[in-house]
Amino acid sequence: MILEATQGKFITLEGIDGAGKSTHIAWLEGILRDKGQNVVVTREPGGTPLGEKLRTLLLNAGQTMHSETEALLMFAARREHLDKLILPALSRGDWVISDRFTDASFAYQGGGRGLTANKIHQLEEWIQGDFQPDLTFYFDITVELGRERLGNRIGDMKLADRFELEQDAFFRRVRTAYLERASKFPHRIHLVDSSQPIEKVKLSLYDKLLSIC
Ligand code: TYD
Repeated sequence: MILEATQGKFITLEGIDGAGKSTHIAWLEGILRDKGQNVVVTREPGGTPLGEKLRTLLLNAGQTMHSETEALLMFAARREHLDKLILPALSRGDWVISDRFTDASFAYQGGGRGLTANKIHQLEEWIQGDFQPDLTFYFDITVELGRERLGNRIGDMKLADRFELEQDAFFRRVRTAYLERASKFPHRIHLVDSSQPIEKVKLSLYDKLLSIC
C-alpha cells in the first residue's frame, strides 16, 4: 500500500481498560485547537460507518469468535479507518487523535489472546505499510487500579463488553505486551504513569505534545 505524504500529525492513546485515556482526549484536543490546529478525534475499532458496525460485533459480550477472526476484524476496521478518515485528514493538514490503534492489537490479540507478534506484524505490514503514529501516549496502570476505576462495569454481564468480561490474567498479559511495546519504541511511545494525580499526568502529556508541535 502506498501512503500519501502527510502534513498533519497522528496521535494515539493506549492503555488497559480503565487506564483513563478517554479523560485526556478532550483535553489534548482543546490544547491543539487553541494552537490553531484542525483536530479530528476518532477511535478504534470504529471511526467509520463500517468500522462502527465491526466494533459492535467485536465488543458484543454474547458474540464468540476465534482469536484470529478477532485480529482480522480489528485490521479490517483499521483499513477502513485509514482509508476513509485518518489519511484524508492528515493529508488535509488536520491533526488526528485516535483512542487506540495498532498497539492495541499487539497488546490485546497478541498479549491477551496469545497470537504471535509475528502474525500481528504481518497484518500491520499489509494494512499500513510503515505508517505509524507520530506520537503514542500509553497510560500505564495496574490491573487492580483499572478495575477499581471501571467500577461495577467489569465482570457485570449486563454492563461489560466482551473484553471487559476477561479475567485479571488476561489484562496482565495485555499490560505486559504494552510495556514491551513501550520499551521497544521509546521515541514514539510515551509511557505515562496513570496512577499519578491527573494534574501531573497532564503536565507530562503537555511537555510531550509540545515536542511534536
Ligand atoms: P475501549 O477503547 O476500551 O472503549 P470504551 O472505553 O468505550 O470501553 O474499547 C475497545 C476495546 O477493543 C478494548 O477492550 C480493547 C479492544 N481492542 C482490541 O482488542 N484490539 C484492537 O486492535 C483495538 C483497537 C481495540
